[in-house]
Amino acid sequence: MYFGTPVVLITTLNPDATVNISPMSSAWALGDRVVLGCTASGQGIENLRRERECVLNFPSPKLWRNVERIARATGKHDVPPEKAAIGYEFVADKFALAQLAPTPSETVEPPRIAECPLQFEAELVEARPSNGADGRTAFFIAETRVKRVHAHRDVVVEGTNHIDPARWEPLLYVFRHYFGTGTDLGKTFKAEC
Ligand SMILES: Cc1cc2nc3c(=O)[nH]c(=O)nc-3n(C[C@H](O)[C@H](O)[C@H](O)COP(=O)(O)O)c2cc1C
Repeated sequence: MYFGTPVVLITTLNPDATVNISPMSSAWALGDRVVLGCTASGQGIENLRRERECVLNFPSPKLWRNVERIARATGKHDVPPEKAAIGYEFVADKFALAQLAPTPSETVEPPRIAECPLQFEAELVEARPSNGADGRTAFFIAETRVKRVHAHRDVVVEGTNHIDPARWEPLLYVFRHYFGTGTDLGKTFKAEC
């Protein structure tokens, strides 16, 4: 049911203080909250539940190949069998594999991803377990609270703290294909610029 949601690269700290990057597409925002849907077997959700902080990095469409480079990687040393069966491998340095660069955060420990035009530093509010058909925890619905937003200058309306929607383009995940967005169709009455 991947009807089309933005790709977010979640940076979290591993137990040994190295950094993990987890690509996700089950993400939506309301006010200062971003809610994520994470399969329980990922290293990212394990890190988020332990450290209770992360950075939500939003790539632009031109970064789709960088995202895909780490699509079959997990930060889990012991690759879960269902993932190993479809070619996932343990990767310690996903920044190197993705050809992306870390940059320090201001309010959380995990670094941001420099190339992503939008980066939200966030803390975990709650991770609600959700059971699969076998009764075991299959997913976590993780509610995060955004503490600080960073945006590349070229997607900000000069002299304001508004994102220019004509220049910011999310990378969308649509039924397992990557898409950008089209041209601006018009704005809602609440738009501030
Ligand atoms: C574009 C894309 C979108 C994805 N969306 C999700 C998602 O919404 N939720 C999820 O649990 N996994 C999602 N995945 C799969 C995770 O990235 C995968 O489980 C990966 O192993 C997570 O890395 P980690 O184990 O190091 O945390 C997605 C993968 C890609 C490439």
